[in-house]
Amino acid sequence: MSTQRAKLVVGNWKMHGRLADNAGLLQAVAKGAGELPATVRVGVCVPSPYLAQAHSLLDGTPVAWGVQDVSAFTHGAYTGEVAAQMVTDFGATFAIVGHSERRAYHRESAELVAVKAQRALEAGLTPIVCVGETLEEREAGATEQVVGAQLDEVLAKLSAQEAGRIVVAYEPVWAIGTGKSASSQQAQAVHAFLRARLAAKGAEVADVPLLYGGSVKPDHAFLRARLAAKGAEVADVPLLYGGSVKPDNAKELFCQQDIDGGLIGGASLKDQDFLAICKAAAEATAAG
Ligand code: PGA
Repeated sequence: MSTQRAKLVVGNWKMHGRLADNAGLLQAVAKGAGELPATVRVGVCVPSPYLAQAHSLLDGTPVAWGVQDVSAFTHGAYTGEVAAQMVTDFGATFAIVGHSERRAYHRESAELVAVKAQRALEAGLTPIVCVGETLEEREAGATEQVVGAQLDEVLAKLSAQEAGRIVVAYEPVWAIGTGKSASSQQAQAVHAFLRARLAAKGAEVADVPLLYGGSVKPDHAFLRARLAAKGAEVADVPLLYGGSVKPDNAKELFCQQDIDGGLIGGASLKDQDFLAICKAAAEATAAG
């Protein structure tokens, strides 16, 4: 059943919120998160104009905050874009990249998403890389091909060390905002596939050729263990599920072996629902 990896639950507010309403929501989430065990980490990704508000209301609480996208550029004449480095000025730690709404409505390619993940890492942010298939792709039996290609594009651009610092969110497009979540078995199957893909990236490091030259006895076993540990970091990248996670389906999803938490859209706008989902994550770790 569930794993011993800590759970992570992140709210994705999308383009919702107003200054006055946000204050109550952020304060309630901070208070509720303070009552959770340390096995659950909580974050919220707010619209960029509210970063300063999140910073001032969440600083010193157990809740981390971040944005829903970053630019592929560090600075320059890119009207309307927000650089990852700017986000860190407001104490943020997360940046969602490659959400399906950005891939679909802003025609973001897998390559652009990979560059954004790199920019986020360079700035010291944790990118939450979203992958997911459409209904047509699932029905055509192409789910693994689609999500595998989306993940590979990102992994190809990152060193194993960088890859060990990302979070991946599997969000089937057909489950987002539809009230129709993937079943726990469907989600687990894709998560296991993604975990194997990440482990393969780690294995590349563990299998790095170790050459010997010189007259002292080399400690290759030590070096190999160091490299394997780096590989293990990649295999342990948190894998979140997103798509119509609600208080009543969260625990079953979070109890799955390779589901390390959730990326929560609609339900993150209601403090009681969001906190109930965070509690479900705590129960899933306790059950494991
Ligand atoms: P949803 O959105 O929970 O409203 O389905 C999830 C997401 O898009 O991140």
